[in-house]
Amino acid sequence: MLIMGSTSFSPSLSLSPSLSPHSSKFPNPNPNLFLRSHSSFTPLTLRSNQTRYRFKKLPSSNAPNFLVAASGKAEPLKVIISGAPASGKGTQCELITQKYGLVHIAAGDLLRAEVAAASENGKLAKEYMEKGELVPNEIVVMMVKERLLQPDSQQRGWLLDGYPRSSSQAAALEDYGIRPDLFILLDVSEDILVERVVGRRLDPLTGKIYHLKYSPPENDEIASRLTQRFDDTEEKVKLRLRTHHQNVDAVLSVYKDITVKVNGNEAKEHVFAQINAALTHVGEQRKLNSGSLAA
Ligand code: AP5
Repeated sequence: MLIMGSTSFSPSLSLSPSLSPHSSKFPNPNPNLFLRSHSSFTPLTLRSNQTRYRFKKLPSSNAPNFLVAASGKAEPLKVIISGAPASGKGTQCELITQKYGLVHIAAGDLLRAEVAAASENGKLAKEYMEKGELVPNEIVVMMVKERLLQPDSQQRGWLLDGYPRSSSQAAALEDYGIRPDLFILLDVSEDILVERVVGRRLDPLTGKIYHLKYSPPENDEIASRLTQRFDDTEEKVKLRLRTHHQNVDAVLSVYKDITVKVNGNEAKEHVFAQINAALTHVGEQRKLNSGSLAA
């Protein structure tokens, strides 16, 4: 894990249980439409960068979601996760939301909901998504902003996935005064990305992400209902990757002081260990700031 800049922190913050155990964006109104949700969290002990991390299995109903709370006044955590197509953003978001209780807002999921609803925006969005290009800002920017400003995001904090993807989208967030506490960049080599895209499958009932090789379905019943995304072909991922490379540097330059670069080539639990360490660091820094302000 590489912390690229010194992270800026809000004052007077500590970790406390959040208001709700749920972290997905919306109930899934359409079983044919994939929306990401969390999976169960298994006990594990692992090693990353010489540090041992231990996690315990927790029933989802009383998982210790965390809200970063100021003394007296709640100050929720705000995180952006970024990375190339199939770098593991959605997979890590499942793990992060499970532990921290943030509201997961994925630009791609919001767009796929519009496509599935066959709205005018959805029809237009699909044309761009099929070409692996960015959907125009007229559609994306307000959609994401409105979701960020909804009460659950404001109360529990948010985990923004796949947005911003261009300097103009980043500028729009800044103009609205929306700034994350941490910007996570998943770094994955290109040959691995293609393999992950081609093998990805989705459960339309639960929204869970699978991979035929790395995260196979638990049983035949689940296996029989798995679907594949329309843009998950080797040909389309190359177009999506080109779009990503054209824009990533401009976005990074906006968040360089709060960016943590994570090695996403490793197994998902190891990737999560790096992210968890970064989020813990943010919490600790906030507590320190709180102490120094109080002194
Ligand atoms: P979006 O849906 O955001 O797609 P993406 O960025 O291409 O990312 P993916 O969802 O494909 O991958 P991921 O990083 O979430 O990986 P996952 O965890 O699933 O966007 C789609 C399209 O919408 C864009 O092309 C664009 O047209 C449009 N769009 C979206 N946002 C936009 C915006 N802001 N502006 C304009 N247009 C926008 O993992 C992938 C696979 O790998 C899975 O099978 C998983 O099981 C496996 N896997 C994950 N981690 C590991 C690991 N560590 N080891 C082994 N396997 C792993």
